[in-house]
Amino acid sequence: VQWIQNLIDSTTANLLPKRQAVGLDIGVGASCIYPLLVCAARENWKMYGTDIDETNFQHAIHNVSANGLDERIKILKTTSYGPLIPLEALEIRTVEFIMCNPPFFATKEEATATFLKEQQPFAACTGADVEMITPGGEVAYVTRMIDESTLLKDSVQWYTVQLGKLSSLRALVQKLKGVGCKNWAVNVLQPSGQTVRWVIGWSWLSMRAPDWFARHKSLVGTGLQTKPNQLLLDSLSQDPTRVIEETLRALPLSVSIPDDHSVIHDTFIVRTDSAVWSRSARRKRQREEQQVTQNGTISILASDGSVKNPSGFGYILVVDIRLVSDMHKIKQTWAVSIRWIKGEDRAVFESFCGMLKIKIMAKLL
Ligand SMILES: C[S@@+](CC[C@H](N)C(=O)[O-])C[C@H]1O[C@@H](n2cnc3c(N)ncnc32)[C@H](O)[C@@H]1O
Repeated sequence: VQWIQNLIDSTTANLLPKRQAVGLDIGVGASCIYPLLVCAARENWKMYGTDIDETNFQHAIHNVSANGLDERIKILKTTSYGPLIPLEALEIRTVEFIMCNPPFFATKEEATATFLKEQQPFAACTGADVEMITPGGEVAYVTRMIDESTLLKDSVQWYTVQLGKLSSLRALVQKLKGVGCKNWAVNVLQPSGQTVRWVIGWSWLSMRAPDWFARHKSLVGTGLQTKPNQLLLDSLSQDPTRVIEETLRALPLSVSIPDDHSVIHDTFIVRTDSAVWSRSARRKRQREEQQVTQNGTISILASDGSVKNPSGFGYILVVDIRLVSDMHKIKQTWAVSIRWIKGEDRAVFESFCGMLKIKIMAKLL
């Protein structure tokens, strides 16, 4: 639940503290635990849930009522042959997130063999068949979700699932790549300290999740996560703020500075529609006449010379500059982080990082 909150909060433009969000839990189970937890964690969030099992469905409805949450959690009884993401039947057009803890196993034999092999008390098998077993196991189940997501696309901000096997994560990342998805986040959860679960979320929108929870150190080099959405330049011996500001102001970009900047921390929010710093874009501009408009701290000029609304740009990049002290406060250095917040094409983010790195290094070395 916390991971999903991070995903939604970090990839929502103009996030407001009391923002409403709607989620859908596929297969709520008898306890309806995840919708209850979501509603407990966020007072403005609402949930839909589904289950195909009549007993689980009845218990879930009872639990929702017992917690006084009938107004915020709606449960629909679905069927194994219908869609996993039944937005139409729920009469909703969009949801912010989908969550799902699918049945893991393909057969009863597989489930029994796994529990016999593990034989630790924490791996005790307590679930009914419908909770643990589905044709094709969790890979087939989530593959169906991915296929449905290719049709629903951005009706859902983030599609997320919890997985019981690393091999499933491998198969599903392959599947996502195969259907052309380029925006996904993974993490490894170890809630009880022993049982490991993998979570994966994918999105057809262009908001990128921060690396600190959308990538995991144990998965580096496995090809299971996207490349980093952040570049860090640290141990700089001089303050790079001026060179960064001058570089950005010289380009036809929108640059805004949030109010919270201080002596030890500066931030520039950069908005653009394309790599206006590239050589080809520079040449094109030289051929065109330009006009720059001043608007408070924001200078806005789109690459075609027109003035744009800052929220209308396709790319958002954030440059953070921080003064870092060592443990004994003797040595101070600067660190610059460049974060990819929004945008379709990773090449634009990477070329922005390359351009800024060259400028900083050339001035400071
Ligand atoms: C592993 S349990 C998860 C229960 C609960 N979400 C949790 O995490 O404790 C899987 C649940 O999915 C339900 N289920 C199985 N196939 C389903 C389907 N096609 N659509 C919706 N729910 C399904 C099962 O009845 C079961 O309640």
